[in-house]
Amino acid sequence: MHQSVLLNEVIESLGVCPGGIYVDGTVGSGGHAEAILRASSPDGRLIAIDRDVDAVGRSGGRLSVWGERCRIIHSDYGDLKAVVNGMGIAEVNGVLLDLGVSSEQLDTPGRGFSFQSEGPLDMRMDQGQSLTAAQVVNTWPETVLADTFYQYAQETRSRRIARAIVEARSGAPIATTSRLADVVARACGGRTGKIHPATRVFQALRMAVNDEMGILVRGLESGLQVLANGGRMVVISFHSGEDRCVKTCFREHAGRWESLPQGGSAWVGRRPAVKWVHRRVVVASENEREDNPRARSAKLRVVERDDRCGVDPTV
Ligand SMILES: C[S@@+](CC[C@H](N)C(=O)[O-])C[C@H]1O[C@@H](n2cnc3c(N)ncnc32)[C@H](O)[C@@H]1O
Repeated sequence: MHQSVLLNEVIESLGVCPGGIYVDGTVGSGGHAEAILRASSPDGRLIAIDRDVDAVGRSGGRLSVWGERCRIIHSDYGDLKAVVNGMGIAEVNGVLLDLGVSSEQLDTPGRGFSFQSEGPLDMRMDQGQSLTAAQVVNTWPETVLADTFYQYAQETRSRRIARAIVEARSGAPIATTSRLADVVARACGGRTGKIHPATRVFQALRMAVNDEMGILVRGLESGLQVLANGGRMVVISFHSGEDRCVKTCFREHAGRWESLPQGGSAWVGRRPAVKWVHRRVVVASENEREDNPRARSAKLRVVERDDRCGVDPTV
C-alpha cells in the first residue's frame, strides 16, 4: 500500500484541530486523509477528492468508518473551489495537495505508468479522459515530443529520443510500456547507470497526458480562494518544476511592501494574501528517507491566509 509521506509534518503544518473543515485534493489511498480525520476528532470534517476512480473506491473503503465526517468526491483538484462551494460550504480551514502518482498507480501494470512492467501505454489518472500516452507518443510531432521531454523532465537527450520514437512508430504504433522503454534505451545507447534511461521520458509523458502543471496552477489558486482567514494550504511536490510553481504562486500571494517615489509604501501582491508558515521548504527526516524512497524527493510548502497582510497597520 502507498506509504504517505511527511505524515506528521502535514498534520502539524495544516494546524488540524477539532471542528475544522479540511480538503484533501489528492486523497489516493487515504493515508493523509485518515490522519486528518483522527486529528480533527470528534467533529472535524474532510472533503476528499481524487481524479482516479480506483483511488476513490480504495479510499472510500478505508475512510467509511468515519461516516458523515468524510465525503469522497471523484473530481479534479483544479476544480476544488467549485466542489467545495457545490456542497454548500463557503470556506475551509485547510487544503492539502500531495502531488504526483501513487504506488498503487505505479504498481498496476494495466495503468501503464511504469516501464518496470509490461502494460498498455495509458498513464491516464482519470480513466474517463480521452487522451492517453499512446496517442501522445504516436501522434505528436517530433519537435513537440522533444520539447515535452525537456520541459517536464529536463531530459537533455530529448531530441535524439523524439527522433527515435518517430522512426519506430513509422513501422508500427508504439502501444506498450516495454516497447517505448526499449526505443528510448536504444536511442540513449543502452542502460549504463543505476537509473533506467526511460525514467525521465515516462515522467514527462505522465505530466503531459494529465496536464499536471496546468492543473497545479489552477488548483493552487482554487485552494487559496476557498481558505478561511487563518486557514492553511499545504503542498507536497516531488519534481523541481512543480516546487517552483508552488513557490512562485505562494510568493505572489505573500506579496511585499514597496517604497513609493512620493514617500510611504504600498503592498504589492495577489489576493487572497497569505503569510509563510515555514520560510524554508520542509523535507523528510533521515529515518523517513531510509524507510520510504519516495520521501527522498518530497518538498512541503505551507502558507496561511492572512487578510491583515497588506493592510497598513496605522490605518
Ligand atoms: C501521491 S498520491 C496521494 C497519496 C495520499 N496522500 C495518501 O496518503 O494515500 C497522488 C494522488 O493524486 C491523484 N491526483 C493526481 N492528479 C489529480 C488531480 N488533478 N485531481 C485530483 N487527484 C489527482 C492521483 O490519482 C493519486 O491518487
